[in-house]
Amino acid sequence: MKFMPEPYRIKMVEPIKMTTRTEREEKIKEAGYNLFRLRAEDVYVDTLTDSGTNAMSDAQWSALMRGDEAYAGAKSYYHLVEAAQDIFGYKYIQPVHQGRAAEKVLFPSFLEKGKYAIANLFFDTTRAHVELAGARCLEACCPEAADSQLRAPFKGNMDIAKMEQLIKEKGAENIGMVVMTITNNSAGGQPVSLKNMREVAALCKKYGIHLNIDAARYAENAMFVKLREKECRDMSVKEITREFFKLADTFTMSAKKDTIVNMGGLIGVRDADAPYILKIKANCISYEGFYTYGGLNGRDLEALAVGLYEGIDENWLRYRLGTMEYIGERLDEYGIPYQSPAGGHGIFLDAAKFYPQIPYYEFPGQVLAIELYKECGLRGCDIGSYMIGNDPDTGKQLQSVNEFTRLAIPRRVYTQSHYDMVIEAINEVWKKRETIRHGYKITWEPPILRHFQAELTPVKE
Ligand code: F0G
Repeated sequence: MKFMPEPYRIKMVEPIKMTTRTEREEKIKEAGYNLFRLRAEDVYVDTLTDSGTNAMSDAQWSALMRGDEAYAGAKSYYHLVEAAQDIFGYKYIQPVHQGRAAEKVLFPSFLEKGKYAIANLFFDTTRAHVELAGARCLEACCPEAADSQLRAPFKGNMDIAKMEQLIKEKGAENIGMVVMTITNNSAGGQPVSLKNMREVAALCKKYGIHLNIDAARYAENAMFVKLREKECRDMSVKEITREFFKLADTFTMSAKKDTIVNMGGLIGVRDADAPYILKIKANCISYEGFYTYGGLNGRDLEALAVGLYEGIDENWLRYRLGTMEYIGERLDEYGIPYQSPAGGHGIFLDAAKFYPQIPYYEFPGQVLAIELYKECGLRGCDIGSYMIGNDPDTGKQLQSVNEFTRLAIPRRVYTQSHYDMVIEAINEVWKKRETIRHGYKITWEPPILRHFQAELTPVKE
């Protein structure tokens, strides 16, 4: 297979520290076997997240100089609003400092105690903000996503029959909103088809339920749709984006992903006269800052306005998805299991298949992440039972459908030789998989979003 050449070249570099295996064993122990607690300088290739870890372009760095830092009504705000309105076709655009801020500002308009939100899968902070608003999460991801070896084109889709069953079970009046996560991060960065989005929108319309897009990786999703959904083959990524967004009422977006900046977020509302816009502005002023800057600097708004267009450049997106495909095909050669086909923002190794001997409550995804760090200084993270945590009502450890170790690839940061090194290291860990007999237990955890802070220890030394 071929590595698709980068549609950019390097203008500035950042040295990386080299460490030995013995040093890394020490560092991860000191970090309580939690990769979030490592110092970043002790990591060689950092795939903890693709969020805010992107390299900005020369055009974005120059745009920073045009930042208008006025408190209210800055030029930069209008630049951003125009760009977002042009791409998404929504009338009201609210900048916020990141994705979870968008959730915090928007969700209380639709969710409260006694209500539910249904998603094709929630990402961790989105789940937390549904629960912080007092509501509970229900999920209806398509069954294909549970089988990492099944190569289906749209493993991020909503299971429409299950969604309708959940609506009937809980009563449509109790479903505060439906969230479509595109791409579906927890399912492995897997795309949602336009057909599926239309079916979800039709159900929401039938039952009068608010539809929100969790749009962090909407551009990668649109590119998958262009490549895989026949009807969209001749459409541009921007046209596909417009089609998706006109089906929903609102979107919440972490702009730290597909819009290639280091910080930022957006809320979008399709209709200019939606009554909850007032509540969005009020919440934004209380929690984020005045609604024309939403917790961002003027220069951040400018970089985001440029990044919105760079993020839908089709040469870029072909390269981006091509990189994931290359890594996936090389792993196939070694017979290494991952959520296949490869997702849009990373590779999700199937840790349950690496370590069938380790039960979910000893966190196979975390075990694999730790082994990879020790092997070569690669940092990934668990997307499995360790991340999902405990049931908010009973406090019991939940079992995740999949036990993934996610390698989320930052945008425009690493080169083919980094990926080749990573692939060889994964293979070394794969070859030694039967020697790992036990996982980890948690010795301390906070009540919410525990995986970021928890401390762990090996079940047996
Ligand atoms: N929605 C999705 C689908 C996400 O993946 C994330 C963040 C958020 C919302 C929240 O956005 O971080 O800007 O507040 N995901 C990151 C990740 C952190 O590593 O996947 P945020």
